[in-house]
Amino acid sequence: MPAVSAHAPGKTILCGEHAVVYGQPAIAIPVTQVQARAVVVANPRGSANQIRITAPDIHLDDFLENLPESHPIRQLLTNLQNSLQLPHFPAFDLRVTSTIPIAGGMGSGAAVSVAIVRAVSTFLGRPMTNEQVSSLAFEVEKSYHGTPSGIDNTVITYAHPIFFIRGQPFESLHVCQPLTFLIANSGIKSETAAVVSDVRQAWQNDPHRYEALFHAIGTLTVQVRRRLERGPTEEIGGFLTANHQLLQELGVSCTQLDKLVDAALSAGAQGAKLTGAGRGGNILALVNEENIAAVSTALRNAGATNLYLTNLMPATSEVEK
Ligand code: PMV
Repeated sequence: MPAVSAHAPGKTILCGEHAVVYGQPAIAIPVTQVQARAVVVANPRGSANQIRITAPDIHLDDFLENLPESHPIRQLLTNLQNSLQLPHFPAFDLRVTSTIPIAGGMGSGAAVSVAIVRAVSTFLGRPMTNEQVSSLAFEVEKSYHGTPSGIDNTVITYAHPIFFIRGQPFESLHVCQPLTFLIANSGIKSETAAVVSDVRQAWQNDPHRYEALFHAIGTLTVQVRRRLERGPTEEIGGFLTANHQLLQELGVSCTQLDKLVDAALSAGAQGAKLTGAGRGGNILALVNEENIAAVSTALRNAGATNLYLTNLMPATSEVEK
């Protein structure tokens, strides 16, 4: 039997992170420049449930049964088996690779889950729907992040820009004009669960102040959505930078993220903000043809360890109009 492979993109949050955990809207877009990939190869001589997993990025080379029950890949495959009501798996080898930075706010965990569910379910002859794939990835996110909003698994599964409110069906976003974002990695690893938990603590200590901040972020997100869909897109940058200031007030930025945001803005970016949980990971900057080289250089000079470019394009019919 030939190998079955599947992949999933990274993601970045345009606006609304953290507030989205508290019921406010957020916007996320896929980043196809980075990908997680899962490849399944049958092992015809192996016995039932003999599943060998290799994931060189996390130095993993072991059989599934040897992984702790809390291991995300083990949890994912157990949930997959239950949801397909399989008495056991046939023997197979699963290889997982990813170019998405780990703990960098680009959804590496969710992308790995999505790629694995797609590859394994297809290999078993029972390919899952996007809804099933997203929900299995969400289960793993929950055990690792405590209270995830579900935005990561959704945008990564559907690989499309989304307007997302926790617990509601997401809406696909269609931009009215092409937009280019530069994503810059601070080189600082940050655990989403820890930052989300600190925000929760701060909210519990001062609900009035934090709810006002979440609400202000939600209002900005709605403004950004309107301009993405109908323009004027020139106004988006200002909202993104304002979102960064609100994230600073939430206490989730750090010196290096602020430095990268300032560098991008000084070099001409229309707007810039941290993206994801914060305290490390990435910033994103809205750029155009004229300033992209200058902003890239400024970000590198300010210490960015990696740069990624992602474009949002209108649907072809909208361009032709
Ligand atoms: O750090 P990331 O990219 O996984 O983003 C987390 C986004 C939060 O809003 C902070 C948490 C969530 O579950 O939505």
